[in-house]
Amino acid sequence: VEEMADRSGVGETALGAAMMRAEEGERVDRLFDDPFAAAFLAAAPDPFPDGPDPDDPQIAELKEAFQTNVAVRTRFFDDFLRSVCAGGCRQVVLLAAGLDSRAFRLEWPASVRLFELDLPEVFSFKEAVLASCGAAPGCERITVAVDLRADWPRELAKAGFEASRPAAWTIEGLLSYLTDEAATRLLADVSALSGRASHLALDTAHLDDDATLTRARDLPGLDGISTMWHGGVRGDPGALLERNGWQVDRLDRAALATAYSRQIRDRSSAGFLTATKQPH
Ligand SMILES: C[S@@+](CC[C@H](N)C(=O)[O-])C[C@H]1O[C@@H](n2cnc3c(N)ncnc32)[C@H](O)[C@@H]1O
Repeated sequence: VEEMADRSGVGETALGAAMMRAEEGERVDRLFDDPFAAAFLAAAPDPFPDGPDPDDPQIAELKEAFQTNVAVRTRFFDDFLRSVCAGGCRQVVLLAAGLDSRAFRLEWPASVRLFELDLPEVFSFKEAVLASCGAAPGCERITVAVDLRADWPRELAKAGFEASRPAAWTIEGLLSYLTDEAATRLLADVSALSGRASHLALDTAHLDDDATLTRARDLPGLDGISTMWHGGVRGDPGALLERNGWQVDRLDRAALATAYSRQIRDRSSAGFLTATKQPH
């Protein structure tokens, strides 16, 4: 498995998120339990071999900020999926799933079909680790190896996605890796595939507005990661979705953290949104 770990480029960021989720699992007040996160980490080389000194107090604080962000974010998307599936949605698409293990760790109603999209190198590592754990999904899980800047809707349709049925989409930790143009196109593509009663959740961290990302960008050992950030949607992604027929609810990240009894110290306009296509 170790040989399969691709440390070059974007897949590394998926390992970073898994690392934060594994650490969350150590807390008594954890917001979720992701036993697979530790398995992914154990199978991979250190994602940040040249990273900054973890004992430096500034670095430790930054790491904690990232950890809180990932913990709150993970729980937010967990809750979103539980809620829309309880409401009857049976088709789920995780865009840029990374090392997400929701197919395995959440309880799904019968007949949920879940698609995971990410780059091929992420799945070659992920599937090998899951197989070595004997992991069995609690829903029908279909992986689709694609570049989300290319014609992914075609690959998703080939994999069995039905645009005529409602879908629940998550776009988690992805948009800031895309340029404004690619992120805007992605949201338009998702909108075109979303029929009545579809749902969407995303995190809206924009590089220039997010104090934690801005601090990390300025650190030498993290430049391998931070040079991959292209900023995401320049304006308000919610407004863009509204123009594409969605009804949008915006959520402030700090307020959400407080609701989960966590504190976010970095001030930023980062947040989340959920959107629904009305069933009229
Ligand atoms: C920070 S990770 C987040 C992964 C997961 N959603 C999570 O929260 O753990 C970003 C993910 O986006 C994926 N990604 C970035 N650019 C992509 C692209 N052009 N096509 C497909 N996946 C991409 C990476 O491979 C990586 O898994």
